[in-house]
Amino acid sequence: MNLIKKRGKVKALEDEIASMESILDFDKVHNTHCGISHTRWATHGVPNEVNSHPHRSDESNEFIVVHNGIITNYKDIKKFLENKGNKFESETDTEIIAKLIKHIYSQHPTYSFRELVEQVIQQLEGAFSLCFKSIHFPGECVATRRGSPLLVGIKSKSRLATDHIPVLYSKDHRPVGFEMPCLPRVDSTAEFHTSNENEEVEYFFASDASAIIEHTNRVIFLEDDDVAAVKDGVLSLHRLKRLLEDSHAREITTLKMEIQQIMKGNYSSFMQKEIFEQPESVVNTMRGRVNFENGTVVLGGITDYIPEIRRCRRLLLIGCGTSYHSAIATRQLLEELTELPVMVDLASDFLDRNTPIFRDDVCFFISQSGETADTLLALRYCKARGALILGVTNTVGSSICRESHCGVHINAGPEIGVASTKAYTSQFISLVMFALMMCEDRISVQPRRAEIIQGLKHLADQIKEVLANDDKVLELAKAIYQNKSMLVMGRGWNYATCLEGALKIKELTYMHSEGLLAGELKHGPLALVDKTMPLIMIATRDPVYVKCINALQQVTAREGRPIIVCEKGDLETQKYASQFVEVPHTVDCLQGILTVIPMQLLSYHIAVLRGCNVDCPRNLAKSVTVE
Ligand code: F6R
Repeated sequence: MNLIKKRGKVKALEDEIASMESILDFDKVHNTHCGISHTRWATHGVPNEVNSHPHRSDESNEFIVVHNGIITNYKDIKKFLENKGNKFESETDTEIIAKLIKHIYSQHPTYSFRELVEQVIQQLEGAFSLCFKSIHFPGECVATRRGSPLLVGIKSKSRLATDHIPVLYSKDHRPVGFEMPCLPRVDSTAEFHTSNENEEVEYFFASDASAIIEHTNRVIFLEDDDVAAVKDGVLSLHRLKRLLEDSHAREITTLKMEIQQIMKGNYSSFMQKEIFEQPESVVNTMRGRVNFENGTVVLGGITDYIPEIRRCRRLLLIGCGTSYHSAIATRQLLEELTELPVMVDLASDFLDRNTPIFRDDVCFFISQSGETADTLLALRYCKARGALILGVTNTVGSSICRESHCGVHINAGPEIGVASTKAYTSQFISLVMFALMMCEDRISVQPRRAEIIQGLKHLADQIKEVLANDDKVLELAKAIYQNKSMLVMGRGWNYATCLEGALKIKELTYMHSEGLLAGELKHGPLALVDKTMPLIMIATRDPVYVKCINALQQVTAREGRPIIVCEKGDLETQKYASQFVEVPHTVDCLQGILTVIPMQLLSYHIAVLRGCNVDCPRNLAKSVTVE
């Protein structure tokens, strides 16, 4: 077993492996058919080589493990293992897993690798997806999950003989306690071959489909507590306990994702590509759903639930970060077109408050990845209280997708850049489509519906127009990229753009930035304004325009020099601006889709000018699967 670790980007690891060519027995390495790797997002202990995964049971690497998630009871297990004489080398929670499996192995040397893993996960609390290797079980790999995502990719030359894999149930043994008394042996022996005799099948365990799509598009999404083992080219799936609602098989899903979708193409970064993809991604979100001829909107994933949703007590929109901002952006329209109370919440805060939830609530969980731990936990909280659960995600087969009663795929295509861009505009449109669907038989709102549907029709071309301002935005970025701080201000339909714009600036450029509600300016933030503070104002011709201009005047009266995002040809507004960016006019409730794009471009350019890594901002991960 060779363990190779490096701090920094994956490239650093590649270089390290290349430099070790003379030391490693490369013939052996290249002939190995079983290996595991991991990129770590630090939860316990600083990012360094010792804390990096895989973690090992001992110096001879008897058992090694990689882990996504957090083990909440690791301190108790660590104490137990230390009392048994184990010495820990890292500050992580993960290391206890490697040492625990070795401890169980020392007590039960006849157990199979999979049985050992089943024993380990009975001791663990928290969230995990795990992948194990061991010198005692050469060529074998065992993986399992609870609360964190994990899928199995299956690659075979010929067609698979089946579209599902049976789940085998191990004999139910009670949790055993750390002393591991002798347990009844697990009784399942049957294993399932996915190929005919002569066929070579390759298996991949991964936390995200984009990691394996270059090899195969056929995947099985594992459920919590599934244990998947690959041995001698055979995959078997086991569970310890059979739950009532359990299905006896896991389906093989064929993903629609294409490899080109996760390549940068001619763009310098994924984020830039994803910003410029928005004219197509918004069309994909509406494809087959909005009929521009007869004005109907059909979201197939929720049609059957519409009568129930119309009778509900209230709508709750829950998400984190950018996904939360899409809820803010559409709340007003949902209130207007559904005439229902609409609550918008950050998932973590929603849980902290133990928010009351009722059986007749409809709860939306908005998440690009579909795996965000806070959002998923909020979903489970609401589901347990009997609410209707509606998922809005970009990831087929994700946990939020599978645990929702119904939902909308936003169909934006894979989003690789850590900062969310095209997913935001597609989430925005998905929620607008939902609002339109809810009011299709209300006569009084038909003119409003028609106006919005017309707006949707022209959106792709209008986004192209905004993107054509890229050079102008670059010039703006050059003027402000050396500042320490920036304010983004607006109100009404554009407030979400301010929050989202400020989030993009801070996460990509590491500058401090705040999204301000213009109405709140005089209640504190005005104190920040002077001639040196960069301030961006979003001011479009909607019902709160006049109030925005009041705020602008308060800013200019304090020598503030606002950069204004305004409508094309709006000379009056441009008079207040030190510089401006124009966007085309659209219906008020869609204007936020156009005004957010200059903010995406600006954050991108500032990040590049400041030498930041645009696709992988420091300290952040694309899919936040820990609380
Ligand atoms: C910001 C960003 C994050 C995510 C948030 C939720 O650019 O990407 O704020 O929006 O972590 O992620 P999802 O949507 O995957 O639940």
